[in-house]
Amino acid sequence: QMLKEGSDLNYMERQLVQKLPVNQVKVVPGDADQSKEVKQLLGKEAATLLIDSFKEESVVTVTGGSTMAAVADHMQPVDQTRPLFVPARGGLGDLHEYQANSICVKMADNANGQYRLLYVPDSIGEELHAKMQEEPSILEVLDLMNQADFVIHGIGDALTMAKRRKTSESTFEKIVENNAVGESFGYYFDKNGKTVHRVNSIGLSLDQLKGKSQFITVAGGYSKRDAISAYLKWGESDVLVIDEAIARHLLQ
Ligand code: G3H
Repeated sequence: QMLKEGSDLNYMERQLVQKLPVNQVKVVPGDADQSKEVKQLLGKEAATLLIDSFKEESVVTVTGGSTMAAVADHMQPVDQTRPLFVPARGGLGDLHEYQANSICVKMADNANGQYRLLYVPDSIGEELHAKMQEEPSILEVLDLMNQADFVIHGIGDALTMAKRRKTSESTFEKIVENNAVGESFGYYFDKNGKTVHRVNSIGLSLDQLKGKSQFITVAGGYSKRDAISAYLKWGESDVLVIDEAIARHLLQ
């Protein structure tokens, strides 16, 4: 049975802050796998946290996915701020409305801010990849994303993401054989936080951003439990926005 009382959720948040390598935890009631409203709640909480932290001309780097789309739905204008949104990567083979580029546009529109986009397809070869990184228009966006004040991102279950993005058979096998459980920023990682595969797309330098940007992690749904646990070993998170199903799992 799910707890519904706000005070119980607050209690979980306090316990999780002590247990996990994060500064702040926000828990919304329910399980995002069971209801679309829970995903919207995650989006609303994450958007509110971000909006409350905006300074003048904050730069926000954004990933893709349906959870980030829910964050975009709840983005609002903030007086005296003109936030700038940039995607964390080029295309990852996802549905249009889940692409980081599309989400940037929506966030900027709703926040009365600006955006820069990255037009780099997912599956280009190494050589072209290197060439494109020299393009001034692409460099400009890469510079911005690597100077972000905020990085807001989702986490996916590895196999769910690999299927959704129509990953090649050989990559799919690699992901399965190496026991990847989670995906974020185009990286697939295992339960120990080891990178198993990186999608060949131009994107942000996570190492450059660690310790400098504020990382806001937004993910919910019981099916993502292993992915989220693994992410906390693999990646960076300052603020964690999760649902009750995940909170309970992380407290076990
Ligand atoms: O990288 C993670 C995925 O983009 C998460 O997608 O929010 O639709 O589960 P999702």
